Amino acid sequence: MSLLDVFRPDVRAMHAYVVQDAAGYIKLDAMENPFTLPPDLQVKLGERLGPVAMNRYPGVRVNDLHAALRAYAHVPADHGLVLGNGSDELISLLSVACAQPGAVALAPLPGFVMYEAFAKQSGMQFVGVPLTPDFELDGPAMLAAIRAHKPALTYIAYPNNPTANLWDDAVIEQIIDAVGANGQGLVIIDEAYQPFASKSYLDRLTKHPHVLLMRTLSKFGLAGIRLGYMMGRKDLIEQVEKVRPPYNISVLNVEAALFALEHADEFARQAELIKAERARLLSALADMPGAKAYPSQANMILVRVNDAAATFNALKARGILIKNVAGLHGLLANCIRLTVGKPSENDALIAALTELLREPLNSNPA
Ligand SMILES: Cc1ncc(COP(=O)(O)O)c(C=O)c1O
Repeated sequence: MSLLDVFRPDVRAMHAYVVQDAAGYIKLDAMENPFTLPPDLQVKLGERLGPVAMNRYPGVRVNDLHAALRAYAHVPADHGLVLGNGSDELISLLSVACAQPGAVALAPLPGFVMYEAFAKQSGMQFVGVPLTPDFELDGPAMLAAIRAHKPALTYIAYPNNPTANLWDDAVIEQIIDAVGANGQGLVIIDEAYQPFASKSYLDRLTKHPHVLLMRTLSKFGLAGIRLGYMMGRKDLIEQVEKVRPPYNISVLNVEAALFALEHADEFARQAELIKAERARLLSALADMPGAKAYPSQANMILVRVNDAAATFNALKARGILIKNVAGLHGLLANCIRLTVGKPSENDALIAALTELLREPLNSNPA
């Protein structure tokens, strides 16, 4: 008997999430907004944060953030809104709240890894349904899995990570209807990449009472402050609210998020620049014989190359950090994921990849 036996066997078998040391690198690995605040706004933010009462637990100021987010995101007036320390925390809270014996969470794969991680941590079963080889939803497979497993939670990332695409709306509606027909499940539309996407599910949210819409300020430009939000039918959101730690959004997060929303035009300007840079990167990648870039509606681009590990290492040796996603799923064989950076960072990335990806792409991705 060891003290470690106190911990669940599945926890002992897990690996902790490792954050790479990116110091000194051009950091294009985590879908962050590459831009900081302009200097004048940095000074103003400092003035705002200085007097914040850090000696007190977060209080009713969070209500102002609720109101600001409701206005910013056009949350329907009769819908509930819950805040998380990043949308990661909301996924965790949902899993905790729904983890009844035998409860299932379902998501297409490859997808955002935390759906599975938090489902399993909370004791739910996880069912992954493979996308098609070109990363579209496999409608028949999704519908069959929904009928067979009757998931409590079905996640649809819109756009998806790491494939960066928006899936077919008609298939998404079929999935929502199938979950609705089971009469016992929620569909979570995860719009983490909404600032860079041409469409949102928001307009259709009120059509389906069992759909929750989740967003985050991370990709907007505030990954460091950790703020996610989820909206949906009031009585459903209230259940998540019950398992939320009472002070999960710090006084500094609240004030910084309020400040950012007051300057949403600056973040919108940054998103436009990122979208223009995404188009420039895609067009450069199209000219590289050894690259197949997939369409993107996010601030990342999925690219198939001949040797993902070698490309990752060669970029790292040139001071550029990206993500090698080849190991995440069989469909991602030899795929790398590039986050769209600042123009100068993208120049460096394009120059390096142009040199590295000269050999034509093998027809066999593995
Ligand atoms: C699809 C998706 N959802 C949610 C998140 C989590 O975002 P955060 O916890 O930073 O709000 C991410 C992060 O990369 C993501 O890709």
